[in-house]
Amino acid sequence: MVQENIEQVRKEIVDFAISNEQTLEQFRIRFLGSKGIVKDLFGELKTVPNEEKRAVGQLLNELRQLAEEKLATAKESLENQQSNASDVDVTRPGEPIPFGSRHPLSLVRSEIIAIFERIGYTVSEGPEIEDDWHNFSALNFPPEHPARDMQDTFFIEKGEREIALRTHTSSVQVRVMESSKPPIRTISPGRVYRNEAISARAHCFFHQIEGLYIDKNVSFADLKQTLDYFAKSLFGEKARIRLRPSYFPFTEPSAEVDVSCTICNAKGCNVCKYTGWLEILGCGMVDPNVLAASGIDPEEYTGFAFGMGIERIAQLKFKVNDLRLYSENDVRFLKQFDGVNF
Ligand code: DAH
Repeated sequence: MVQENIEQVRKEIVDFAISNEQTLEQFRIRFLGSKGIVKDLFGELKTVPNEEKRAVGQLLNELRQLAEEKLATAKESLENQQSNASDVDVTRPGEPIPFGSRHPLSLVRSEIIAIFERIGYTVSEGPEIEDDWHNFSALNFPPEHPARDMQDTFFIEKGEREIALRTHTSSVQVRVMESSKPPIRTISPGRVYRNEAISARAHCFFHQIEGLYIDKNVSFADLKQTLDYFAKSLFGEKARIRLRPSYFPFTEPSAEVDVSCTICNAKGCNVCKYTGWLEILGCGMVDPNVLAASGIDPEEYTGFAFGMGIERIAQLKFKVNDLRLYSENDVRFLKQFDGVNF
C-alpha cells in the first residue's frame, strides 16, 4: 500500500543523519533526486483508487516538504560551521590591547597622597554637592563674605537650606572633625567648582587637596616642618619654602606658602616672574571658632590646615600652563604622560 510506504519513508527521512557535505548530497539524491524515492512514490499515485488520490497526494506533498526542509536546514548549518571554522584561527597570536596612560592630575594626586601617608595621614573624602554649613558657615565665613556670592559659587538650592557645588575641599575638614575624635591627621583630595569663565588660567572646576592635623599642642612650627617635608619630597631636596602672612576665615594666623622655583633653581625666570618663588598653597592654624563649630574643644586641642590646587602643582611639575588641557581629554596630550613616574 502506498500509504504504508509513505509512512516508512517519512521515518527514514527523519532518521537520516546528515553530518557533512557527502551525507547531505546522499540525502538529496536518495529522497529528492530525479530518480529519488519521493518521485517514485508520486509515480505510484496512478495505482491509487480515485477516491483516495486526493488524500494520498496530500501525504506525498507533505513528505516532499519534509525532505526539502530537512535538506535546507542541514545545508545552512553545515555552511555556518564552515564559515565559523574559517574565521577563527585558534593558532593566531593575540593582538595586544594598547595601554592607556594615567592622567597627569591622577599622577600628582597619587604622589601627594603617598608623601602624606608616609607621615601617618589618612585619606578622607566628602561630597561635591555640599550644604552651606560645611562649605561656609562652619568654616567661619561671615554671612556677607563675597565667596558666598552667586558670582563665585554654583548654587543648586537657594533659601533656607542652601545647597551648592563645593568651592573648596575645606568642607571635608568640617565633616572629618564632626565625625571623628582627635588626634586627626588626614588629607582630602577632590574636585571643586567655581563660577568662572573658562580660560587658560581659570576653570569652572578643578582639584584640590586639603590637609588637616588636630591634636593636643599642635603648633605653627609643626605646620612649617610638615610643609618643608612635603615640598622637599615633591620637588627635591634642594627645594625651600617661605611663608607669607595671609588671611583665610578658617585659619588664624594664616599664611601662603611659596616654594623656591624648581625651574630656574630660584635664580629668576619667566615662570617665577623673576622672583625665584612659586606660590603653591594656603595654610594656617585652625581657627578656634571652626574647631568649636565642628564639636572639638578649642581649649584642649589645636591644629593646622592647608589646601593646595592639584592643577597648580601639575603645572609646576609638567610645565603645562593651560588649565583647559587637563579636562579636554585630548589623547595627544594624555599620551605624553605614559610611563611618567615621580
Ligand atoms: N580653601 C582654600 C582655597 O580654596 C585653601 C586653603 C587655605 C585651605 C588655607 C586651607 C587653609 O585649609 O588653611 O583657596
